[in-house]
Amino acid sequence: MYSAVLCVAAAERRFPDGFKFGIATSSYQIEGGWNASDKGVSIWDHFVHTKPEAIGDRSNGDVACDSYHKWREDIQLLEDLNVDFYRFSISWPRVLPTGFPNYISEDGARYYSDLIDGLLEKGIEPVVTMYHWDLPQPLQDLGGWTNPLISEWFADYARVIYDLYGDRVKIWVTINEATAVCDIGYDDLHAPGLESEGRGSYLCTKHVLLAHAKAYRLYEAEYKLKYQGQVSLTNQMMWLEPETVEDTELTELAIALSIDRYCYPIFSLAGGWPPALERYMAQKSAQEGEPRSRLPPFTQEEIQLVRGSYDYLGLNHYTTHTARPAASGETIGTYLIDGFKELDVKLGTRPEWSSTASGWLKVYPEGFRALLSYIKQQYGDTSIYIMENGFPDAGTDLDDQPRVDYYTSYLEQVLLAMEEDGVNVVGYSAWSLMDSFEWNDGYQVRLGLHHVDFTSPARTRTARRSAKYYAAVARTKDIDAEYQFDKIADE
Ligand code: BGC
Repeated sequence: MYSAVLCVAAAERRFPDGFKFGIATSSYQIEGGWNASDKGVSIWDHFVHTKPEAIGDRSNGDVACDSYHKWREDIQLLEDLNVDFYRFSISWPRVLPTGFPNYISEDGARYYSDLIDGLLEKGIEPVVTMYHWDLPQPLQDLGGWTNPLISEWFADYARVIYDLYGDRVKIWVTINEATAVCDIGYDDLHAPGLESEGRGSYLCTKHVLLAHAKAYRLYEAEYKLKYQGQVSLTNQMMWLEPETVEDTELTELAIALSIDRYCYPIFSLAGGWPPALERYMAQKSAQEGEPRSRLPPFTQEEIQLVRGSYDYLGLNHYTTHTARPAASGETIGTYLIDGFKELDVKLGTRPEWSSTASGWLKVYPEGFRALLSYIKQQYGDTSIYIMENGFPDAGTDLDDQPRVDYYTSYLEQVLLAMEEDGVNVVGYSAWSLMDSFEWNDGYQVRLGLHHVDFTSPARTRTARRSAKYYAAVARTKDIDAEYQFDKIADE
């Protein structure tokens, strides 16, 4: 009887042969070695050292998982996971301690080179993010992402990185989650810890898009022919549902603000800001007595530069929220987590969506399929890489069945989006290889397929049940065959 169940399940829930499974991490969250060799200071180093109260457990990433020293062990974990690719990020100030290419750290450059070689030796493809939030502090001192020159500085950095690793890296992610960089970073939650929502955040949005586009165009002009790689970025896409049908129009505007603001300029045929958002911002800014829209316009030249600057579409997805108008006098907290002050939108949840260790992350897998269908409808059939998806818990249990259930149910929705809605998803990366510094939550919230003992100097990594599950998925491309077998064997 069991084998009959297995056959049906296997036939029904298997990803196609060429589909790639991977796993992700980021430099500040895992590396440690914050001042190793000649590494420069990043905005996260600065933020956690000067404002420790911003982190729930007052911890920091000074040592984190110590992957600066333990990367060989990480590669072993990756091999055991059977993944096709490993998505990691490069710390800009580790390679360019001043932020500028006048000085390249030999040790920093070697660290990533060795990691890339180590991965390739094991047949694991490196997928490299150039920026996962650890901006060199000297650039922040010059205004960071609000200084228009940053798009040039980023392209200069990208050139160094392409020169160093372009021969071996074929999938590039310029920037991870611009919305976190700009909206959360300028809403006093993440580094640089500035409060400039609605002004700094939009300058940042524009400059992040230009920075990405310049790095893309540089690759296209000087490296693509030689190396045949692919460049894009990955955006955070939380799905939104109207709380009631009356909230539909407002929810569409909230989607324009949170998803399309970062996608439309790159992936739409027209380019530029999403028209509904641009109109809204122009009107609202005028009503507020602003001489011009707080959403800074693009020139025609900039629209052309940014439009089409992609070889695939990258997205990170964790959760869905409901959206409704805020009641009068109701406070709206952090961007993406509590609502959108710009639109007077309050985010919420439905009672049937289960909770996790992170207040902002509720489990509603169907939202994933809805999001993927929206992306297809909005931006066409470009290949999609899901660059992050994962489940937070308190990290105490190696038998993390709820995480396994999360992955099974979210992967099922990806499959349905592919099979039923024709969405062109080509790869999926779970978040994360191991527990790591979870930003404002420090080490209180864990998303790793491997547990990390942060009390031990060895930072011992131990596979959770979810690691075994994911290893089976990555090997068989089947979201339940091996798992069911494992479950039956356990019972
Ligand atoms: C970020 C990760 C983070 C994860 C879970 C994503 O938005 O890219 O760095 O660990 O969310 O919070």
